[in-house]
Amino acid sequence: MTQTDKTLNQEEMPFLASLLKEKQQRQTSFHMPGHKGTLAPHPMLLEYWGGDVQPADLVEIIGIIDYLHAPKDKLLEAQKLAAQSHEVDQTFFLINGSTVGNITSIMGTAFDGEKVIMPRASHRSVYGGVVLSGAIPVYVPPDYHPQVGFPLATDTQVVARLFQEHQIRAIHVTSPNYYGYLSDVQQLAEMAHAHGAMMLVDEAHGSHLAFHEALPHSATQLGADVIVQSTHKTQGALTQCSMLHLNHGRVNAARIAQILGLLQTSSPSSILLASLDAARQFMATQGRALLEDVYQLSVMAREAIRQIDGLWCYGEDLLGSHGVFNYDPTKLVIRVSDTGWNGFEFYQLLRKEYGIDGEFSDLKHVICSLTIGDTELSVMKLLNALKSISEKPSGKPVSDYEVPPPSTLPEMALSPREAYFIPSKPVRLDTAIGQICADNIIPYPPGIPLLVPGEVINQDTVDYLRFIMRMGGGVVGPEDKSLETIRVIT
Ligand SMILES: Cc1ncc(COP(=O)(O)O)c(C=O)c1O
Repeated sequence: MTQTDKTLNQEEMPFLASLLKEKQQRQTSFHMPGHKGTLAPHPMLLEYWGGDVQPADLVEIIGIIDYLHAPKDKLLEAQKLAAQSHEVDQTFFLINGSTVGNITSIMGTAFDGEKVIMPRASHRSVYGGVVLSGAIPVYVPPDYHPQVGFPLATDTQVVARLFQEHQIRAIHVTSPNYYGYLSDVQQLAEMAHAHGAMMLVDEAHGSHLAFHEALPHSATQLGADVIVQSTHKTQGALTQCSMLHLNHGRVNAARIAQILGLLQTSSPSSILLASLDAARQFMATQGRALLEDVYQLSVMAREAIRQIDGLWCYGEDLLGSHGVFNYDPTKLVIRVSDTGWNGFEFYQLLRKEYGIDGEFSDLKHVICSLTIGDTELSVMKLLNALKSISEKPSGKPVSDYEVPPPSTLPEMALSPREAYFIPSKPVRLDTAIGQICADNIIPYPPGIPLLVPGEVINQDTVDYLRFIMRMGGGVVGPEDKSLETIRVIT
């Protein structure tokens, strides 16, 4: 869908321009923020910032600087420009990342007790949305890709079955996922709409996709109703800056705005918002050309990595099974485990010996993202380092580092919301079997919830947790990180 307003000019940055004009006025402030734009920052802060940021830290002024929670003027125009450039009906700027976007998309579409299909391997913000809305999650069980050891996408056939079995209000999928793999969003959206449900997409890792034809389509182009993107992850906006896009017709836009008003600060940072306005202008006017370079670099890098002994870079070879519909070539999923180093060790070698930080690592892989911030030089530096580490013997036998996937999903005795808002107490892990969990228990690897509040703790889950701890893995979520105890509903 498209914003057809001919008065909008993608070269302009209306909100940023209004801020710059106000900064240049040098008004004398008797309002917040307390630094008033005049208080000298600590020298160390100045050194860190590389310049004086405070005079740019302006707040809303009626008629002069527009307000995020009731935009009427330049910020409204900036959001309309963003909607036009993404070819959607409406865009909201977010200053609490896709985290707030995912929570809002669930809260804005599902009421207490309504069912939402979501992959078990969803970001924790989706679980946050379920707790806050009271929606009942209907999970797509994790379908571990045999080569990567992590679920990469959501299988349409599994979703079709869930639609047959449940009355569904919305489906929420992550596409692309952290590894850059995409689900068939178009088919999922058609399925959702045929069942009177809404299609919500966590596209935190795909804000760049719509701007180059060699990249997979964005969910904005595939019939989704709500699409959340981290503009800070794959474009040039500052950290925390995201967008929530809407296609009208099924979603109540006023309720989305109301929920964002509930969840986001009432003092939104102009610096963050301005960076969204500028990121949109940059992408709308130069995105295709910039992404052409990124695309060419990614093709060259993938091919070069595949030529290095002991390394492999996934791509089209994983398409067509386990729900995997497409891949984003700008994410380099590099299998390093054949070198004898595991992913975590390899990641640390890149950091400590070559001054290179990957995006993340798992047992077998190091994942690196290429963006419009990359150059041939940065990519060559990465390729040289990869080659050089792969020639360094690890001194260990090559291992396949298999982690057995968690057992089947535990039984849900209470909804996540019910379990979250009633009293709980810690009990020893070995006495917890049969009780209802009050903690989130997310083992790393693989980073997929093993237990969600409201689920019954069984022998399999306890055994798997013990295995992960023995292996030296970590667990995110519980109050007691040692996992000697676990919180259960009293
Ligand atoms: C798949 C996915 N969704 C959502 C988020 C949250 O995004 P943000 O950091 O913009 O809040 C992340 C963050 O890493 C993510 O990986």
